[in-house]
Amino acid sequence: MNADALKKMAAEAALSYIRPGMVVGVGTGSTTNFFIDALGAAKIHVDGYVASSIATENRLKSLGLNVLDLNSTGDIPVYVDGADEADPHFRLIKGGGAALTREKIVASAAQLFVCIADSSKDKPMLGKFPLPVEVLPFARSFVARQLVRLGGTPTLRNGVTTDNGNVIIDVTGLDFSDPLKMEAAINLIPGVLENGIFARRRADVLLFGSAEGVIEKK
Ligand code: A5P
Repeated sequence: MNADALKKMAAEAALSYIRPGMVVGVGTGSTTNFFIDALGAAKIHVDGYVASSIATENRLKSLGLNVLDLNSTGDIPVYVDGADEADPHFRLIKGGGAALTREKIVASAAQLFVCIADSSKDKPMLGKFPLPVEVLPFARSFVARQLVRLGGTPTLRNGVTTDNGNVIIDVTGLDFSDPLKMEAAINLIPGVLENGIFARRRADVLLFGSAEGVIEKK
């Protein structure tokens, strides 16, 4: 089975968390795109969807699904999104698609975070995937130097501007023995908008598509 088939399997399994009348938060990325397509086909009468990126908003709208403004929405019962890595404690690295800041906001506004991925994202420890950090363009070089002081090797993601008008710096070599501490330390650097460690707001449910079927952890 190829990776897309496994992503689709996980995405379709997430439909079991969606109930009529709910507001649903929707993440960003190729796995989430399978989820959006499944939502379009399932025609569950939800109240509406809060999108974590312009790309997701456009895909939802293209299927005739009702997109809500986060500022006009209260708590979100469930948020569904992919990940680049997930560890056994439900902590994640996200942001491969550069949408990490809005993803973290919508995930934090949600009561339940259902993370969907193919089983290659299931890791004993975070940190192989380069950590995406969203940075104000004005502060790019300063932030890169501070990331070196934290032990990392930063690389500017060329040609990428986020939905918020910022740049992404991908960082390798950081110490992930305490992801919560690293998440907080990076966010203390002036000029950093957000980083892709989801340790403070972890997933509540992990759904991995695997050759043996869907693996659910909660
Ligand atoms: C988007 O910014 C990311 O957080 C994605 O959720 C993550 O990169 C997973 O993407 P795929 O579903 O495309 O693997």
